[in-house]
Amino acid sequence: MKKTILIALILLFTMGLYAQIKIIPQPTSVGLKKGFYRFSDKIQIITSDNDSVVAKIADYLKILLSEKANIKDIRVINSGFNQTKGIILSLDNNKSVFGLEGYELDVNETFIKIVAYKPNGLFYGIQTLRQLFPAHFESKEGLSEQEIRIPCLEITDIPRFPWRGMLLDCGRHFMDKEFVKRYIDLLAYYKMNTLHWHLTEDQGWRVEIKKYPKLTETGAWRTESDGSRYGGFYTQDDIREIVAYAKERFVNVVPEIELPGHSVAAIASYPYLSCTGKQIEVETQWGVFKDIYCAGNDSTLAFLKDVMSEVISLFPSDYIHIGGDEAPKFRWEHCEKCQNRMKNNNLKNEHELQTWLISQIDEYLQKNGRKLIGWDEILEGGLSKGASVQSWRGMEGAIAAARSGHDAIVSPTSHAYFDYDISNINLEKVYSFDPIPAELNEDEKKHILGGECNLWSERAPQEKVDGRMFPRILAMSEVLWTYPKNRNFTEFRKKVQLQYQTLKALGVNYGFECDPLILNANSDISTKMITVNLGKGQDDTEIYYTTNGTNPDRKAIKYTKAITAKDSLNLKIAVLANGNDDNKFYYEREFKMSKSTGKVCRFKYPYSPNYRANGDATLTDGILGTSNFRDGNWQGFEGNDLIAVIDLGSETEFSSISTGFLQSTPSWIFFPPQLEYFISKDGIEFRSIGVLTAPVSAKDVEMLVRRYKIDLPMIIKTQYIKIVAKNMGVCPDWHPGAGGKTWIFADEIIIK
Ligand code: ACM
Ligand code: ZN
Repeated sequence: MKKTILIALILLFTMGLYAQIKIIPQPTSVGLKKGFYRFSDKIQIITSDNDSVVAKIADYLKILLSEKANIKDIRVINSGFNQTKGIILSLDNNKSVFGLEGYELDVNETFIKIVAYKPNGLFYGIQTLRQLFPAHFESKEGLSEQEIRIPCLEITDIPRFPWRGMLLDCGRHFMDKEFVKRYIDLLAYYKMNTLHWHLTEDQGWRVEIKKYPKLTETGAWRTESDGSRYGGFYTQDDIREIVAYAKERFVNVVPEIELPGHSVAAIASYPYLSCTGKQIEVETQWGVFKDIYCAGNDSTLAFLKDVMSEVISLFPSDYIHIGGDEAPKFRWEHCEKCQNRMKNNNLKNEHELQTWLISQIDEYLQKNGRKLIGWDEILEGGLSKGASVQSWRGMEGAIAAARSGHDAIVSPTSHAYFDYDISNINLEKVYSFDPIPAELNEDEKKHILGGECNLWSERAPQEKVDGRMFPRILAMSEVLWTYPKNRNFTEFRKKVQLQYQTLKALGVNYGFECDPLILNANSDISTKMITVNLGKGQDDTEIYYTTNGTNPDRKAIKYTKAITAKDSLNLKIAVLANGNDDNKFYYEREFKMSKSTGKVCRFKYPYSPNYRANGDATLTDGILGTSNFRDGNWQGFEGNDLIAVIDLGSETEFSSISTGFLQSTPSWIFFPPQLEYFISKDGIEFRSIGVLTAPVSAKDVEMLVRRYKIDLPMIIKTQYIKIVAKNMGVCPDWHPGAGGKTWIFADEIIIK
């Protein structure tokens, strides 16, 4: 009996210990030992080498322990290996197996020892040590002395990928210097080593270039639609400060200077850089714009090299990111200088012209000892010799690059775009990401250097960054550091719950792990009753809703039981995270029962797999699309007409029919210019019952939801109804995406 209690106690004790080991990313191996190392008010940090970098790391640890553990007497000494008290930081030349970033952490009752092959490893050993402290260690006040003990253990840890990054878009929204430094600290804490700093955009140029002062005098500022000025930039001193701060934390800052596209702010500053030479304004809209750098203009090329020259002097990074994505070729097609450049260099098309331009920059960077990396569009006209690729439109860019012997990093929209809603990319989805495409052979796989999570900031000004980045970046950190055999989502998710305490202590305003709402709607076609059941995607949340069209808050109806309604229901829902109103989620669902509800709908051309909504049932499921085109209810048709036939099952009387459409011109989604309704008794011969045209000019309104409705003068009977909605085909000349395929977004055909 006594023995069982003892075993149970030991088991509980050990489980308690395991529960405290919440290290993210998961180390290669963790072996728990008996006992604890207890910190006192006196400690020595012993370095084994006379290495200035190691001395800096020792200082970093000293500051950490004095500020957070309130240890008063900390001495850094340099006296070799055979110390058995304090914290030992040791570089070992025999440990080349650890590579640049691996380490071993040995916590004993009397000493803690971190061994690595290179200083980077020592730094990561310290980050692991940090994570062994109670969460409160990371708060401003730090710990009180009696709390300070950490379990004895042995950890060996080597990362899977050398490139573990995060993209911060300071172009769309400026983020202040201290905020950027804070992110460098957060990256380091989770063993990420690359800050991909997106510094130039259509909406703002953020890096001071001495030779071209207007880039920041003009290009860093935009006039918003309400007349207010928005902007900001980093001086060269700011940048040197940030880069030095990052270096001490083993974070490499890779600057992105976009070319040839996303360059409206630069052109607004120096109009001669574009094909037309016309004065334009720094953009205030989000999207892709047709004014790009002129590739035929020698002075544009000189400008780009001058800019690169100053960028190189500021950023020690081997890699310089040149963007290369989303550059419409419309201006180049109509520019004499660009066309001449193509002729003189035997370039077949504008994609080859882009490659020509990029290879000029590639050569310039190589001459200066640097390497070029760009988004996967840089493959389109053939890859420049020295270029590496960042794959974002899926993994195909990385596959193509690796197969042709070029290095690549991966950040596909499917798993790595943290500006996407949590309902599209949740924690589990990020965690399931494998940066190495299965299609590659062993040699090709070596070209995959790692990956990044990207946070484009159109809808994420500084104060919203934490909520989008966290906790998803924890999953990315583990994906990029930890080998798959040591990864397990269930265990990871448990660690994330424990990390929330740490994130709170670090002042991180983290957001959601997954879609916080599970919505199940049923409609009974015979009784016309709609029933909606709501569930929670994660703990620590509360659900409120309204049915009268007002926006819900904590004063609205708190969800406790199924919501029911007859015929129609306009449901607005807010999910609030406990104690954190900054991170709330709104949902809107409108239900309308009609004669089409639940009926079979067949399509002539397929809907896009990216906007399939509820598949074949989308247009007849009784749920209407909202003003958010990513709400999961809108069905998208790219380039194709929407031609659909509904079978009502038997001859049915009706006198009105309508179909919902959404227009969002910055996203290339347009109302159908024409829509025609047809009826048929046999599904073969159809008769037209009305033609409608677009309710607004595409140019007039950017974003709108409208129904294309006809009311018939009499009741008619039919079994089949066909709708033919024309797609514009391509974006018109006035549109920033001129020539690109347009979309139709449709939802719900209502028949009454
Ligand atoms: C990108 O998202 N345009 C790289
Ligand atoms: Zn041109």
